[in-house]
Amino acid sequence: MTANGRTSDAGPATGTLEEPQVRAMFDRIARVYDRMNSVMTAGMHHRWRARAADLADLKPGGRALDVACGTGDLALELADRVGPGGEVVACDFSEQMLELARAKAADRPTVRIAWANALELPYRDDEFAAATVGFGVRNFSDLERGLSELARAVRPGGKVVILEMTTPTRPPLSTFFSVWFDRVVPLLGRLAGDGDAFTYLPRSVQRFPGPRELAATMERCGLRDIRYVITAGGIIAIHVGEVA
Ligand SMILES: C[S@@+](CC[C@H](N)C(=O)[O-])C[C@H]1O[C@@H](n2cnc3c(N)ncnc32)[C@H](O)[C@@H]1O
Repeated sequence: MTANGRTSDAGPATGTLEEPQVRAMFDRIARVYDRMNSVMTAGMHHRWRARAADLADLKPGGRALDVACGTGDLALELADRVGPGGEVVACDFSEQMLELARAKAADRPTVRIAWANALELPYRDDEFAAATVGFGVRNFSDLERGLSELARAVRPGGKVVILEMTTPTRPPLSTFFSVWFDRVVPLLGRLAGDGDAFTYLPRSVQRFPGPRELAATMERCGLRDIRYVITAGGIIAIHVGEVA
């Protein structure tokens, strides 16, 4: 049983994986991750991360945390906003993703890449001015615990920003999305050598709470004044909450 109380239905086809499987999957796909992102989103993913970084409302000289940082792109966006006097700590539990993030941040002295599990962040209470997660919370084996950890590590008044994919509800994009995500992405994944991972991806989006439900969950985890923007024709949701 997982920390969420799930039982035997875990697997790529249900979009639900146990924590060791999630880590192993990201270790496996790390080398193709950036390329697949660009193919799957026609390069738009950079723009979504830039928007999420803006919503973190950071000031020059601030300290920010990017959890489930993957190959590091959102952390680099945050680093641009805190400037040379600030610091960004970017953490993940996949060593292979971290290795790529370290390479990307090699010439960015204000970005520190670290291993950490989002469900047990090794940071003090109120340590950061803001925290972000880009396309990561969907993979947490315990969403509430992960969100509570983010709220704990950010000082009162600071922002927690969650960038995620969501399922569009209105045609024609809902139709396009279902064909693209249910059929084309798993096929591309198989061509890239990992069909399971890219079957898991669309399924995990489908089973993840919708925007309103995610906002309510954030509120239960110590965040207030939750707002969210839905963009990219309804496939991207960016939630922002303030630490109470
Ligand atoms: C889809 S990738 C997103 C990477 C990056 N944030 C981005 O914007 O592209 C999801 C990342 O979440 C990480 N992850 C999932 N669960 C985690 C956990 N409990 N603790 C730390 N990292 C986690 C994975 O290792 C993976 O690198």
